[in-house]
Amino acid sequence: MTIHIGARPGDIAETVLMPGDPYRARWAAERFLEAPRLVNEVRGMLGYTGTWRGHPVTFHGSGMGMPSLSIYANELIRDYGARRLIRIGSCGAMQAGVKLRDLILAMTASTLSTPSRGIFRELQFAPCADWGLLRAAASAAEAKGAPYHAGGIYSSDVFYDERPDLNDAMTRHGVLAVEMEAAELYTVAARHGASALAVLTVSDHLLTGEALSSEERETGFEAMVEVALEAAFA
Ligand code: HPA
Repeated sequence: MTIHIGARPGDIAETVLMPGDPYRARWAAERFLEAPRLVNEVRGMLGYTGTWRGHPVTFHGSGMGMPSLSIYANELIRDYGARRLIRIGSCGAMQAGVKLRDLILAMTASTLSTPSRGIFRELQFAPCADWGLLRAAASAAEAKGAPYHAGGIYSSDVFYDERPDLNDAMTRHGVLAVEMEAAELYTVAARHGASALAVLTVSDHLLTGEALSSEERETGFEAMVEVALEAAFA
């Protein structure tokens, strides 16, 4: 057990899929895993382990924002031996060519700051996805005919943004979408020699103001989880 995870040694698979929402971890485990069992519920941050097509997989919530994700990613990698971590979550589109429900495969994640910022001081580290996972996710999305975009995203610290000029700058620099966790996931994974990727579903559009209904979110999430699972075991 660690400070934030009550799982026993061996309870966590080497492949961990991390939604922000702990209830989504439960939904995904019940929907996709054979024999899922609850391995963590400390602070309500649910983690489930089971098998997918015979491969051990854990779905574990990250919470919202990089400080929360950082705690779980550190403990999952350092204390439980996770080697492949894939964020599955929602994002807000920042480009006209990106539509609601599209998948985003985050090659890089720009950020103002992550919990790891103190390590780098004046250096601007470029958090990037694992190439093997990214390539496999693109192939999986193509094979299913799921519309997807691979490119840069923006990991913001704020949902209620008092500096919309930062979003504008990201849009002008071709950034596909905004979310709140990937940059720290990529940085922590890099530090410990683990592989990471973020596979996201566009749930809202910053340029048009459109947003998915909660019913539509569920179907969109299925494609995202399938792509993440297929990428992990390609
Ligand atoms: N901002 C930050 N995170 C998000 C958004 C957003 O607009 N949509 C989904 N996750």
